Amino acid sequence: MAITVLDPLLSDDAADQMVELWHSYGSYQQYSNEGFDTTFAPELAQRYDAAVNFVRTGGRFGRKEDTRLLAARTNYFRETYFYGEHACSAGIEAFRDDVGLAAAARALHDRPVTVPAIVYANVLLPGQELAVHTDVPEFRGANRRLIPQWLLVVMRHSELFEPWRLRIATGIAYFGHAKGGELAYYPDGAAGRAEVYAPHHNTAALLDTDSIFHGVDRVIGDDSPLARLKPGMRLHPDGGEQWSVRTAAGDVMASYGTDDLRYSVSWKAYCFADEAERAAWESHDDDLALGFILTTLEDDLRAKGALVGDRPSDATFGKLLIDTYIHFPAPQPA
Ligand SMILES: [Fe+2]
Repeated sequence: MAITVLDPLLSDDAADQMVELWHSYGSYQQYSNEGFDTTFAPELAQRYDAAVNFVRTGGRFGRKEDTRLLAARTNYFRETYFYGEHACSAGIEAFRDDVGLAAAARALHDRPVTVPAIVYANVLLPGQELAVHTDVPEFRGANRRLIPQWLLVVMRHSELFEPWRLRIATGIAYFGHAKGGELAYYPDGAAGRAEVYAPHHNTAALLDTDSIFHGVDRVIGDDSPLARLKPGMRLHPDGGEQWSVRTAAGDVMASYGTDDLRYSVSWKAYCFADEAERAAWESHDDDLALGFILTTLEDDLRAKGALVGDRPSDATFGKLLIDTYIHFPAPQPA
């Protein structure tokens, strides 16, 4: 079973509290602004892999559209509610520690020890979609605070670092009443066909998003404001069930009702085989280092004949790694 559906996910009261948290959290930044400043090849956006594939192919249906409009379609809004010792928003604790999600995670990987890793919210406007991708994985010593996200994804697809990889389960929880925005996923790999899960309020789909390609289909509604969406804008709660997208100067670019917006909360947990495996992760005794990662990948590229001569600049090397190891599903025109 590629995905596990939890329906209902929470009690009615707990689901209402998640909707309340969504509205009371503050404003939401665009995904293109998210991410830690990593030092290797900073010219490449954190998810250069997925964004470029999306613009190049026109998404999973191969739609032909203006490049800037395509980029706006997948530049949705994101805030992180919980990230280990680094972030924890008041009110997220009960969701983070939900026993149903933890049980499903243990079952997915058949590993009995789970530790919540991160909780973040995605908000998509009408007309937005989430480019097909695999999620950012994590390895002992290599996570998104230290290593560019696209490089972590390359590491997963290369399968050269599996002894260090943390098994992570992702539960995608849905709250609210947006239309469209189905979860599309590829249970048989990139060469297989997509399957679709249509979410509804207070449910969750749990799967290994580090291994299974997936994306979100377009949210239904008036998408005309997307042509004016620019990087750096934020989604602001305006009180009640009203929202606005605003420029950095505070000018309103577009207004939406809560039910126009697709809101999901992604929950990730590390899944360990036993306490010894968890202890190895916590002790940092067997961590990967960036130099070893790059050398290992370079050696593999040379063995494949994909690289001869000197190693190119970091950004060019990064693009070669992405093209060599990440094989996206081909578009399937509707
Ligand atoms: Fe994802």
